[in-house]
Amino acid sequence: MPAPLVRVDPTQPEAAAIGEAAAVLSSGGLVAFPTETVYGLGADALDARAVARLFEVKGRPADNPIIVHVASPTDVDALATHVGATARVLIDRFWPGPLTLVLPAAPVVPEVTRGGLPTVAVRMPAHAVALALIAAARRPVAAPSANRSGRPSPTTAQHVLADLGERIDLVLDAGPAPVGVESTVVDVSGTTPVLLRPGGLPLEALQAAVGAVALPAPGAAATARSPGTRYRHYAPRARVVLVEGRPDAGERVAAAVRRLWDEGLRVGAMVTSEGAAGVPAGAVVRVMGPRAAPEVIAANLFAQLRELDEAGLDAIVVEGVAERGLGRAVMDRLRRAAAGAG
Ligand code: TXA
Ligand code: MG
Repeated sequence: MPAPLVRVDPTQPEAAAIGEAAAVLSSGGLVAFPTETVYGLGADALDARAVARLFEVKGRPADNPIIVHVASPTDVDALATHVGATARVLIDRFWPGPLTLVLPAAPVVPEVTRGGLPTVAVRMPAHAVALALIAAARRPVAAPSANRSGRPSPTTAQHVLADLGERIDLVLDAGPAPVGVESTVVDVSGTTPVLLRPGGLPLEALQAAVGAVALPAPGAAATARSPGTRYRHYAPRARVVLVEGRPDAGERVAAAVRRLWDEGLRVGAMVTSEGAAGVPAGAVVRVMGPRAAPEVIAANLFAQLRELDEAGLDAIVVEGVAERGLGRAVMDRLRRAAAGAG
């Protein structure tokens, strides 16, 4: 039986629905809920058994830690042994919001939540439903994205049901998640902040607030600090072909579509508004948004990947975008989707 889906107002969530969901969390259950980035699958972060079930249900490797969500900036002090000056600046500026901070973990955080690391990732989401749920549960809430491991993150309650409906206890449905890509993850446990995952808060905003932010080169050192980046991610069933480079992107998308047709494949395309004109008739097309509005493209990204996947295509050609603002997170997810399906 699929989990019950409870509709809730995105800005003024009904107390009864929140109370019901909080009771599920308090008894060790799993609740999917909206955040401003994507839907999360929540468990009581301090209940090792509940968090272990999270890993099992998602099919998530045990060494990939889970973000702990809080309802107030001061809640971080119970979860971390030390919150440095840079972390304080980032919290003041960007919480609630799509920014996750990696800090030295306090002993109260179970090892399973931390994936065995000495650090804990903490974020305060900017979504009334998420905040009301965490406050009502009176517990920090561990929540990975509510997809099966390796699939695109869910931006609607329907995506959650499609991936995990049979395996979880409740879904709060408040409509589409507005940002559409997951939070930016920054390690502030050392002296210089390190970007572990580009996301909903642009790198440019971080740099404006705290100056230098280290960008680890892809490879072994980076994956050791950010375990999640080591696994197959965001991959639909169809093969994703990413066309990088901008000026002639439209023509190159068209060429890639024809080449895949020549292989006898059923082909779809995700393109910018500017790139749409060049796509040959006969391909299933989704327009992501204008090149100048990466936030629109981010909001459409995962939903369109899922839609095209459901259309039963063999391959999806995607036009790359400039790595500015949310374009950096969009390209990170697309590169992983393309690598995962290869
Ligand atoms: O926007 C988001 O961040 C969403 C919503 C639900 O809040 N959550 C999310 O969780 O994307 P998840 O589990 O799909 O991704 C969490 C990322 C992973 O790459 C994980 O490895 C990393 O955060 N992470 C968690 N704890 C960490 C830690 N202690 N050190 C380094 N990376 C950590
Ligand atoms: Mg995820």
